Amino acid sequence: MKNKKSRALLERALMHIPGGVNSPVRAFKSVGGFPPFIARAQGAYIWDEDGNKYIDYVGSWGPMILGHNHPEVREAIAKALENGTSFGAPTRLEVEMADFLCDRLPHLEMVRMVNSGTEATMSAIRLARGATGRDKIVKVSCCYHGHGDSLLVEAGSGALTFGTPSSPGVPKSLAADTLVIPYNDAAALERILDANAGKIACFILEPLPGNVGTLLPRPGYLREVRALCSKHGVVLIFDEVMSGFRVAFGGMTELSAVTPDLVTYGKIIGGGLPVGAYGGKRELMKLVSPSGPVYQAGTLSGNPLAMAAGLAQLKVLDRDRNEIYPRLDAITERLGNGVKAAASLANVEITVNHQGSMFTAFFAKGPIEDDASARSCDTARFAAFFREMLENGVYLAPSQFETGFVSCAHKDDDIALTIEAANTAMKAAARLTR
Ligand SMILES: Cc1ncc(COP(=O)(O)O)c(C=O)c1O
Repeated sequence: MKNKKSRALLERALMHIPGGVNSPVRAFKSVGGFPPFIARAQGAYIWDEDGNKYIDYVGSWGPMILGHNHPEVREAIAKALENGTSFGAPTRLEVEMADFLCDRLPHLEMVRMVNSGTEATMSAIRLARGATGRDKIVKVSCCYHGHGDSLLVEAGSGALTFGTPSSPGVPKSLAADTLVIPYNDAAALERILDANAGKIACFILEPLPGNVGTLLPRPGYLREVRALCSKHGVVLIFDEVMSGFRVAFGGMTELSAVTPDLVTYGKIIGGGLPVGAYGGKRELMKLVSPSGPVYQAGTLSGNPLAMAAGLAQLKVLDRDRNEIYPRLDAITERLGNGVKAAASLANVEITVNHQGSMFTAFFAKGPIEDDASARSCDTARFAAFFREMLENGVYLAPSQFETGFVSCAHKDDDIALTIEAANTAMKAAARLTR
């Protein structure tokens, strides 16, 4: 593949942008090589600066569920743009967004718009702390909730120890208030809540983790989590920044029929523009400033272009949900089966997890259902597979521990071409010797 222009741009980028990128995983560190610089996108495809075309399964890391540059989203942005880009004052579009979300999602009684998923989770945690008067929080080791200080924390040495910072710059004192447990382990949650009775403000998790690759909850896990949080007066936060409107219109909250106290959103609700949101029970949300004492604010929050883009995308999903979600599920399953068949032909061990249009091919025997099993993957073999897929025109997330996203714009032919590429790439992965 031609790559002269992307190479030159990376060299320039490295001069003035840390690592040459504005978000770390874009740098391709875990798969080797260097990232193509993307010039444009349409439907299921992206084109790089050198003119190479790729079938895209990153979808801007989740937002582009309708495909890139969807006409209804683009037109909504263009229409909003005629009136200006930001007012820092209340607007009709924000009211329409809040009405739309609270109307359609039974678990949302009130909602506050912010500018990213990180802001949404940070703010939800502050609210939980403010509401309960407790400082400690519990998170799941393999779940990512953005880069807020309280959340960049890993498990300490023992199951009941305090968390330790996972990045320099996160104060130890703050990390000590974050307790970390494994996914799919309700007994671990019970132990930690019993040992810290009256001290835990909230339990935050991705109900369907996507940031270690796609993991599925064991039957009953989310129900058990709900019961334990209720018993201990702990605010249950579902982080649906990735899974919201993705695995079903109502996300994992709808699929699991478990009602959290607060939910966070991002990605899809911005239609490709920067957005996040948190919401849930009225009694909690009423505590947010200015109706209550828990402070949270934002110069660009509820930005009219972002509201217009997000609403346009959500309205299409709502209108066509009976066709969209079953089709996404079916083609993602076909894709997964094709990749599995390619692996088995090449004698490579993989496990494919998928829920709706979220999928990961883990290079391990499986089952993959928590952090420990995900970490058993052969990341070098994944990297060989990834590079060959890219070379064959398929753009996957550049890490074993990420989720792939299928969009409404992916057609049967795209899936067939992807499986063909996977047949070649699995052979490359099989050839890898170390
Ligand atoms: C589940 C989840 N929560 C929060 C975030 C952070 O969102 P943002 O990158 O918009 O800050 C992400 C980002 O990938 C996410 O997947």
